[in-house]
Amino acid sequence: MTSDNPQFAAYAPAPGERQPPVAAVVAGAVEEDVPVLAALQARARGGSAGEWAQRIRRALDAERSLVVTARVAGEVVGYANVAFLSAHAPVGYYLTGVTVDPVWRRRGLGRLLTEWRMEWVWGRGEPVWCFVSAENRASLDLHRELGFERVASGPSFQGVAFACGEGWLLRADPPSQGRRRKSSM
Ligand SMILES: CC(C)(COP(=O)(O)OP(=O)(O)OC[C@H]1O[C@@H](n2cnc3c(N)ncnc32)[C@H](O)[C@@H]1OP(=O)(O)O)[C@@H](O)C(=O)NCCC(=O)NCCS
Repeated sequence: MTSDNPQFAAYAPAPGERQPPVAAVVAGAVEEDVPVLAALQARARGGSAGEWAQRIRRALDAERSLVVTARVAGEVVGYANVAFLSAHAPVGYYLTGVTVDPVWRRRGLGRLLTEWRMEWVWGRGEPVWCFVSAENRASLDLHRELGFERVASGPSFQGVAFACGEGWLLRADPPSQGRRRKSSM
């Protein structure tokens, strides 16, 4: 399945030209970060900054959840969440919403934000869950290389439906329980 969805990065498993990896600081977000995070989300994913700000504030207020930022030289360049989802099985900690500013992509920031959140969840002794559209091959590759395994596929997970009709439910167990390696997914 290929993606024409403008919300997803164009799939380029072997890009010709590459920028070097960039060092970034990842940290939990606070209320003052909301406007700049909302602007980043609107720029990268579409929709209005006002709607994104409401969603980010809800995530900041939610229990057992986390909003994180990645900064390069003080500039906010990436955003991601962890949400504890319990509406449907499997109940647990889900990685959601990872977004890297388009001009900073393919420099290791998505990987950094994902590893950082995996460590945060594993630090609570829990497996890490996420669901990804089957069209979003860039994100599927990112999660596969960090050790996520496909558990199921379906039209929706945790009440979130996929525009293309299919998504994958992925899971990564803490290293002590076995796998942290590139999976065959
Ligand atoms: C998915 C996303 C977060 C990746 O961020 P990024 O900073 O560009 O990713 P990284 O540079 O850390 O890439 C890590 C690995 O992911 C995979 N990857 C990332 N972008 C890719 C692309 N466009 N095509 C193919 N593979 C890709 C590669 O395996 C890459 O490793 P490599 O660069 O050594 O080949 C970014 O493209 C994005 O913000 N997309 C739009 C929002 C989105 O789809 N979020 C995911 C929702 S589940």
